[in-house]
Amino acid sequence: MNTLSKIKSNPFRFGTVVEGTFFTNRENELQMVIDIISGENHLVLISPRRFGKTSLVNKAIQQTKRPYIAIDLQSITSVLDFSIQLLRKVLKQYPYERIKHFIKRFKIIPTLSLNPQTNSIDISFQSGTESLDALSDVFQLIENIGEKGIKPIVFFDEFQEIVNIDKNLDKQLRSIIQYHKSVNYIFIGSYEGMMRDIFEKKKSPFYHFGHLLTLKKISYNDFYTFLNDRFKGFHKESELIAKQILSFSHCHPYYTQQLAWQVWNIIEHGSDAEIQKAVKNLIEMHDNDYERIWNSFGQTDRKILIGLTRKNISVLDKSTLELFGLSATSTAFSSLKRLLRQGYIIREKGYEFDDPFFREWIISMRELC
Ligand SMILES: Nc1ncnc2c1ncn2[C@@H]1O[C@H](COP(=O)(O)OP(=O)(O)OP(=O)(O)O)[C@@H](O)[C@H]1O
Ligand SMILES: [Mg+2]
Repeated sequence: MNTLSKIKSNPFRFGTVVEGTFFTNRENELQMVIDIISGENHLVLISPRRFGKTSLVNKAIQQTKRPYIAIDLQSITSVLDFSIQLLRKVLKQYPYERIKHFIKRFKIIPTLSLNPQTNSIDISFQSGTESLDALSDVFQLIENIGEKGIKPIVFFDEFQEIVNIDKNLDKQLRSIIQYHKSVNYIFIGSYEGMMRDIFEKKKSPFYHFGHLLTLKKISYNDFYTFLNDRFKGFHKESELIAKQILSFSHCHPYYTQQLAWQVWNIIEHGSDAEIQKAVKNLIEMHDNDYERIWNSFGQTDRKILIGLTRKNISVLDKSTLELFGLSATSTAFSSLKRLLRQGYIIREKGYEFDDPFFREWIISMRELC
């Protein structure tokens, strides 16, 4: 076993928000986020799943050292629940004693009680409370806090979910927060189409509400340095390992870290640094999921995905359509759109798989038949 493995723990992390030594670069994006939220602007941050939106925003907020209230709209079930969860987050940042005079101005005063089991505050509004009143009171509370002290940042994760919580909530929320000057809002979303509909369609209430930033993958050079620095001293072929990982992962932040983690793990257990072995292990781990996903696709989607497993091929070319038995460009195009919306493929320079392991799974599954 490599002696260094005894003293160093795996320096890669995937799945959770990353910070510190697990976070690489993004210097430009970080500066942009900080610049936007340092003035009176709001930020809209879009990227496919697991590109590092939350990690980036967290880091930016940490650097500003400002108070923040983060709320994931995926976890919200109704307008009243939105108000309650938001107020809970506010109370985590600001002690009740400091803000109670603002809460006393609410149209309906909520009941706050300490839950001895969780040691957190339970909040309820009396039945019959108009949920929009509650919501507007909580947002006004945040604005009031900002007027009197350091401007807080409110960030909504998975903001596109707003349209699923309640009809017209987008319109109502916009009318509540549009005059706020003492809060910066950050809207994060991973369904690009939905986010663009919300922030770029003229008829949408949030049309051009914030500065829109699209987060790309991490650049090859930055990721290469990140990987090489960590494998250096752990394996003599660190440069080759870094190159091979990136050649497979195409610099996707999450999958690069996942593969690097697995390669490290293999070396740590005394095997050769075989990228293919790491890939194989990860595919086997997700075999059931991939099978279930594959079985949920119709034939056109399957043909498109098979087409996309080929390198240097444009799936919309006539010759490709013929090769994969697709009848018309329009059918192929609507399949691409559907797969994009569902997050199975992403569009960078061209269309490509979001998950390079799924691509590999499809290739090996077809080879086995
Ligand atoms: N700057 C970075 N440096 C290195 N790895 C990163 C970076 N940003 C993200 N990652 C990798 O991507 C993973 C996902 O990051 P994060 O949760 O921030 O992305 P996200 O876009 O918010 O994801 P989701 O769409 O699931 O909300 C992290 O666990 C980490 O492995
Ligand atoms: Mg996130």
